Amino acid sequence: MEYESQNWIWDGLYYCPRLFGGLMLTVALLGLSTTYFGGIGLFPLPYVWLDSGVFHKKKCEKKRIRVYMDGCFDLMHYGHANALRQAKALGDELVVGVVSDEEIIANKGPPVLPMEERLALVSGLKWVDQVIANAPYAITEQFMNSLFNEHKIDYIIHGDDPCLLPDGSDAYALAKKAGRYKQIKRTEGVSSTDIVGRILSSLKDTEGGGDNTSTLSNGGSGGRHQSQRGQISQFLPTSQRIVQFSNGKGPGPNARVVYIDGAFDLFHAGHVEILKKAKQLGDFLLVGIHTDHIVREHRGMPYPVMHVHERSLSVLACRFVDEVIIGAPWEITKDMITTFNISIVVHGTVAESNTLLPGETDPYAVPKRMGIFRFLESPKSLTTSSVAQRIVSNHEAYMKRNAKKTESEKKYYEEKTYVAGE
Ligand SMILES: *[C@@H]1O[C@H](CO)[C@@H](O)[C@H](O)[C@H]1NC(C)=O
Ligand SMILES: *[C@@H]1O[C@H](CO)[C@@H](O)[C@H](O)[C@H]1NC(C)=O
Repeated sequence: MEYESQNWIWDGLYYCPRLFGGLMLTVALLGLSTTYFGGIGLFPLPYVWLDSGVFHKKKCEKKRIRVYMDGCFDLMHYGHANALRQAKALGDELVVGVVSDEEIIANKGPPVLPMEERLALVSGLKWVDQVIANAPYAITEQFMNSLFNEHKIDYIIHGDDPCLLPDGSDAYALAKKAGRYKQIKRTEGVSSTDIVGRILSSLKDTEGGGDNTSTLSNGGSGGRHQSQRGQISQFLPTSQRIVQFSNGKGPGPNARVVYIDGAFDLFHAGHVEILKKAKQLGDFLLVGIHTDHIVREHRGMPYPVMHVHERSLSVLACRFVDEVIIGAPWEITKDMITTFNISIVVHGTVAESNTLLPGETDPYAVPKRMGIFRFLESPKSLTTSSVAQRIVSNHEAYMKRNAKKTESEKKYYEEKTYVAGE
């Protein structure tokens, strides 16, 4: 079967069109504290509640196929999003297991993002209906039974890469035998390892290969860096992929269009939160993604880590986002506001130091003069550089630990890293 060509967007919209009205209510659970995540917990997202209640009639009565996919989702990227999109297309409801911090530490070393942030990112994806926190790293027989019996899962989904248990056996053998296993294609061109590599290599570029990777400050010039990274990123943006991620519809009549812009580099839990808040101010959220050039000029090295198409896909995958401008201008003009019928322009209070270049004026001057500009209190203090900083210190800790390991241990670790399907 060719999953890629399934017209999932329209299936979803026409099958139960009213469900999409429920998106606004979503993910109050993002604010939950980590203490909630002690055991394996199931977090239904609100539109599933809607489905099982008010709207449980007519067409939606047909038995809904529930599919399950799990992962570490550390350093969430559009490759994860694309895997979950494909998984969702194999059923009606997608339940996602997010591997616990402890299991990741035991199998791969400390995650860059703690459970709470990984849950926020996964729950923020528009294809995800429910989340199971603290899933096991390798599916045990017991866990599989609880998926089938308690969580009413019909199929377990995994990428087409082999997933082996430490004893060398296939982790999904049981599900396959039971005829409850389905496979999707992995997204080419991106992995968490690759993203870490981009950050580290661009730091080496600036610092002449020195060890001083702890400083991720602004500054430095971009020329050489850009050509280096060009070789690292193998992502080839196609219009097909953008269509697959898109909602495929514009604002309705009388819709209040909210505009927010930024780099949205290394898409993190803080981004999900601010987008959720922005969406609540209107009916249609339009997100401007700044060009690579603009981000590099204002933030300096090593940003942007993800290029504009990658950043656009991550933003489009977010359930609060309706549309993106791929390569938005720095300055918001009257023309833009008219063209997109923007009612309100917002900007988060926690943003990267977007220093104005010499001769540059306030990019929000026009919406401010029109009285349609608003600052949004950022719910989290996360920034792209704080995430990048964590990646660097994680890597340093890993190198230290690894230096003590034997060759065979290193090899096992490497394999584990890749098998985990990041
Ligand atoms: C190297 O890192 C230290 C802190 O770890 C910092 O004080 C120093 O300024 C850095 N040097 C350079 C050249 O970035
Ligand atoms: C523009 O947005 C306003 C809401 O702010 C809406 O009432 C109006 O119908 C929209 N205009 C068009 C042409 O869509």
